Amino acid sequence: MYILGIETSCDETSVAILNDNKILSNIISSQQFHSKYGGVVPEIASREHLKSLPEITKSALSEAKIEINEIDVITCTSEPGLVGALLIGLNFSKSMAFSLNKPFVPVNHIQAHLYSSFLNHEKPKFPFISLIVSGGHTLLILVKDYFSHTILGTTQDDAAGEAFDKVAKMMDLGYPGGPIIDKLAAKGNTKYHKFPVSVIKSNYFDFSFSGIKTSVLYHLKKINFEEIKNEKLISDICASFQEAIVNTLFEKTLKAAKRYDIKNIAISGGVSANSVLKDKFRSLEQRDFRIFIPDPLLSTDNAAMIAFVGYLKYIHDDPGFRYTENLKRKAHPRLDQKLF
Ligand code: KG4
Ligand code: ZN
Repeated sequence: MYILGIETSCDETSVAILNDNKILSNIISSQQFHSKYGGVVPEIASREHLKSLPEITKSALSEAKIEINEIDVITCTSEPGLVGALLIGLNFSKSMAFSLNKPFVPVNHIQAHLYSSFLNHEKPKFPFISLIVSGGHTLLILVKDYFSHTILGTTQDDAAGEAFDKVAKMMDLGYPGGPIIDKLAAKGNTKYHKFPVSVIKSNYFDFSFSGIKTSVLYHLKKINFEEIKNEKLISDICASFQEAIVNTLFEKTLKAAKRYDIKNIAISGGVSANSVLKDKFRSLEQRDFRIFIPDPLLSTDNAAMIAFVGYLKYIHDDPGFRYTENLKRKAHPRLDQKLF
């Protein structure tokens, strides 16, 4: 079965073609226009998606060496994301499905991150603990089976990636902040300063990263950062900040795995590309845990993960998901569980 997937929920325009769970192409175009604003500008994102989608779709088909009418199912991110950006992808993909008379499957972006490690050579076995850490989301989920998820915890304010982006912005390091902080932190001292991470008393598995962001801001003011900044100081701040975030993500995930007696842990979303986070989780492999982290191109936003969940939904679920001629969406009990 050939599946065409489209992702336009934020600032990556991506189109992928899968043959069942095998990736034939996965073209990702990261919009560069946002870096000078220090964050994604929704209107610019929508316009860029509109401009580049037809070309990227052609490239994805040609790289996969298949014709558009050979596609069996069309899938696209339907939520969550920037509304305008989502609408571009949805209108484009639904029109394509309508004109080709192919089934259309809407895909939840977070579910796509959740299953992204299934595109690796080795896949997690059910049940597993999933840590999803991206620019917009931080979730700890117990995954019992396909589409059987229990959310154990989620962020009460900023997402982990968002904290990286905001702290990078405070020091004028560029956007997105995660990869930049990751690189600079490698040369820094993690013990330079202890930045506190707030604890949510009502649920240990919830996250809160807004406080640490503020504590970095206060620290920068206190040391008169703008006057005294140098490479060493920036690296030290990055290393200490990153250490605090990574430790929090690691400790909560490990505790969840222990509580539910689960040895399989899958980590996904943009922050799963973080080198210290990966090393820390990989070290658990010496303690009988199995760790699944998608390849870097599959950990940040991409259409292959969307196409894969579209495929899973198509083969696991009933026709309630499908759009054919009249493109009317029927409510689906599982999709409407409001898990995400
Ligand atoms: O999953 P993603 O591409 O988009 C969302 O769905 O949000 O994640 C993007 C986020 C950004 O906040 C970015 O700073 C962060 O992932 N990120 C990283 C790293 N690479 C990307 N954070 C920490 N370390 C990294 N190496
Ligand atoms: Zn994402």
